[in-house]
Amino acid sequence: MNTFVATTLVPLTYLTSAVLFIFGIKRLSKVRTARSGNAIAALGMLLAVIGSLLEIGLVDYRWIGSGLVIGTAIGTAFALRVAMTAMPEMVALFNGFGGAASGLVAASVVWLRSIAAGSIATGSSTESTVADTLGTAEAVTVCLSILIGAITFTGSVIALMKLQGKLKRGQPILLPARHVLNLALVAGLVGLCGWLGFSATGSTTAMALLAVTGLSLALGVLLVIPIGGADMPVVVSLLNSYSGLAASAAGFVIGNPLLIIAGAMVGAAGLILTQIMCVAMNRSLLNVLVGGFGATDSAGGSSASDDYNGVTSCGPEEAAMVLENAESVIIVPGYGLAVAQAQHTVRELGDLMEKRGARVQYAIHPVAGRMPGHMNVLLAEADVPYEQLVEMDSINPEFKAADVAIVLGANDVVNPVASKDPGSPIYGMPILNAHEARSVFVVKRSLSPGYAGIKNELFEYDNTMMMFGDAKNIIQGLVNEMKTL
Ligand code: TAP
Repeated sequence: MNTFVATTLVPLTYLTSAVLFIFGIKRLSKVRTARSGNAIAALGMLLAVIGSLLEIGLVDYRWIGSGLVIGTAIGTAFALRVAMTAMPEMVALFNGFGGAASGLVAASVVWLRSIAAGSIATGSSTESTVADTLGTAEAVTVCLSILIGAITFTGSVIALMKLQGKLKRGQPILLPARHVLNLALVAGLVGLCGWLGFSATGSTTAMALLAVTGLSLALGVLLVIPIGGADMPVVVSLLNSYSGLAASAAGFVIGNPLLIIAGAMVGAAGLILTQIMCVAMNRSLLNVLVGGFGATDSAGGSSASDDYNGVTSCGPEEAAMVLENAESVIIVPGYGLAVAQAQHTVRELGDLMEKRGARVQYAIHPVAGRMPGHMNVLLAEADVPYEQLVEMDSINPEFKAADVAIVLGANDVVNPVASKDPGSPIYGMPILNAHEARSVFVVKRSLSPGYAGIKNELFEYDNTMMMFGDAKNIIQGLVNEMKTL
């Protein structure tokens, strides 16, 4: 590599990519600018790849070309086929792959520079440790990258299976003495990392590498398996942060400053999001990690429809008569809106109401749906004006003055039990105060519970009327009725 490329072009490319990443992330924080933020960050990534290729110099482009073609084909197929409702699963999968990739990078460095290089140099095993060949700091980061990468990988696979319902979703799986087991694993891993980095030589390095990887994979499973369904968003975002930390550690291993920066940004962003979600669900991070949330689901409340008393229901015609005179309407979207894909129909209803002079707002709970920003994305897809999307803290004081609240496929996020019953698994989770509106219409197909698996006493309130059916059909019925008024 000539000096200009090494001292000027490569660092400049990395610096530009880092700046593009920062601007990309900044723009991703608002729905209006998110699309361009994504494009800017993607451009940053392209520059990062070019910079790395320039830095490495001699590479076999057949491997790079094949990887690019296969990766692009798989990524495009996934992106085109994935349903909005399955997006959290996809994020979990990506986190897992990110962690696995970082761990593999670190493991391959140990393999090439310590294990294989030693055998080639001496014809047998070498007496050098990883710290001797790579340096002390690198030996530590190699261990961190493999450890965090492997935990992220298996933890994400378990999160994916829980989100897909392949592992019992509402209830955590609690192994006996799990805390002792996990502590023993952590202690074992610390010892094994010391062995891998500073003591093992030659073929024992390979054994240490396998042992650290295997135990870390097991720890990933054990850490996520006891965590209940309602905490899954926090777990996915925490794993996202882990994948960033693993990448950052891998950046130290291969001496790539951009990987360190990008990994640190993902790590920090994931951690901030985790904190926001913990606050939104009123759970401390330690409480989430220690697990077991949701174990009291059955004790916290039954979910069978015959446990409800005095539930009243109505059809679109009756609801349209109430809406006809409403001056202020708050729509509370939830997961069911995404399932029914009713966003365009609800926009039509909102427009109709506005034409009649009503003030229409959408109440956005931070964990409504199945991923952060789920409702914002859905409603933006239907071109609902951004100004009408109001965050929880701002909309809650407005419910008291609202004539109608339409709860559309939402359940847990409007369950008043969260603020009343200390025995409930969702006790303390801030909710949208839909029950304070003069009339509440709850649109869902049955009295089945939401994600947390518990009864919702809002359905029994005197001012609540259930509208049973698919959200899109019900709202379409309402639109049709409103048009006849
Ligand atoms: P949920 O409490 O999950 O309730 C969704 C409701 O939608 C269900 O009760 C279901 O009732 C109804 N529904 C499903 N399909 C429908 C359709 N086609 N038409 C009409 N209704 C339909 O949703 P939420 O209130 O949005 O709360 C989110 C929950 O998910 C929270 O517990 C949260 O902690 C958790 N969670 C959130 C995230 C993030 S980051 N947002 C990620 C994972 C988990 P029926 O079956 O009776 O129709």
